[in-house]
Amino acid sequence: MYASQPPEGWYEANRARWDERVPLHAASEFYGLADFRAGKDPLRDFELAEVGDVTGRSLLHLQCHMGQDTLSWARHGASRVVGLDFSEPAVETARTLAADLGLGPDRAAFVAADAYDAAGAVPDSAYDIVYTGGGALCWLPDIDRWAETAAALVAPGGFLYLAEFHPLIDVFDDETGSRVINDYFTSDVWVDTTPGTYADIDAGIETVHNRSVEWQHPIGEVVTAIAKAGLRIEFLHEHDVTLNQRYGTLRRHDDGYYRFPADRPRIPLMYSIKASKPAA
Ligand SMILES: C[S@@+](CC[C@H](N)C(=O)[O-])C[C@H]1O[C@@H](n2cnc3c(N)ncnc32)[C@H](O)[C@@H]1O
Repeated sequence: MYASQPPEGWYEANRARWDERVPLHAASEFYGLADFRAGKDPLRDFELAEVGDVTGRSLLHLQCHMGQDTLSWARHGASRVVGLDFSEPAVETARTLAADLGLGPDRAAFVAADAYDAAGAVPDSAYDIVYTGGGALCWLPDIDRWAETAAALVAPGGFLYLAEFHPLIDVFDDETGSRVINDYFTSDVWVDTTPGTYADIDAGIETVHNRSVEWQHPIGEVVTAIAKAGLRIEFLHEHDVTLNQRYGTLRRHDDGYYRFPADRPRIPLMYSIKASKPAA
C-alpha cells in the first residue's frame, strides 16, 4: 500500500529484510550460485553491449547485492571491481564468491555501507565506470543525492551506467500490465509486507522481516538528477524486456527475458542510461 510518509524505522526494516533474504537468495535457483561459480554470466546482453569493453578499467558497483554482477565485470576484464551494499550478509557472500573465483581483494573488494556514504566507504576516490542495476534506485529516497554521490565517484573520462526497471511498470495492474491503477508521479512511498522473496515466489518460504519501503522515481527525475550532477547523458534506452514475471501476461523466452505476447501493444519494461564525465 502507498503511504504519504515513510514509516518510522524504514531504513532498518529495509536492511533487515535484505539481510534475511541473502541466504535464501544464495540457495535459490534464481541466483544460481553454483552455475555462476562454474562460469555462467548473469549480465544482460544489452548491458554488455552498452557498457562496452571493460578491459583494464576500474568499476564500482553500487548496491551490488551478492556481487555476482560485480564479479562478472571482473571476469569480462575489469582490472579492479568494488561492490558496495548496506547488507553485511550480502557483502560477506560476495567476498566468499570472490575468493571462490580466485579474485583477491586487490582485484575484487566489497564494502558494507549505505549508498549515500559510498564516497567515504570505498577504497578509491574515483572509478572509470560506476555501475548500478536492476532494482537499486527504488530503495533510495533522494535521487538527486544519489546522482551527486555516483557522479562524484566517476573518474574524469569515465562514465556512470545505470540499468533499471522502468518506473512506468508500477503504474499498471499486476495481472495484465494494461490497466492504469497507480499514479506515475506520486511522491508517496510503497510499503510492502509480502513474505518470502521474488527469487522464489511459489516456494511459500516463511520469513520474519517482511516490511519494506520503496520510492518511485519517474524517469525524467533520474535523467535530470544525473545531468544536474554534472554528467553528460550519452543515451537513455528503453527496453521491451524485463527480468521477472512482473505481469501475469508476460511470457518467458529462451533468452531468459520476459516479454509481452507479440499481439499486445508494448510499454517499456526496463531502461538504461550512460552518462559521462569529461576528461580532465
Ligand atoms: C534488488 S538488489 C540489486 C540487485 C543487483 N542488481 C544485483 O547485482 O544483484 C537491491 C540491493 O540494494 C541494497 N540496498 C538497499 N538499500 C540500500 C542502501 N540504502 N544502501 C546500500 N545498499 C542498499 C540491498 O541490500 C540489495 O542488495
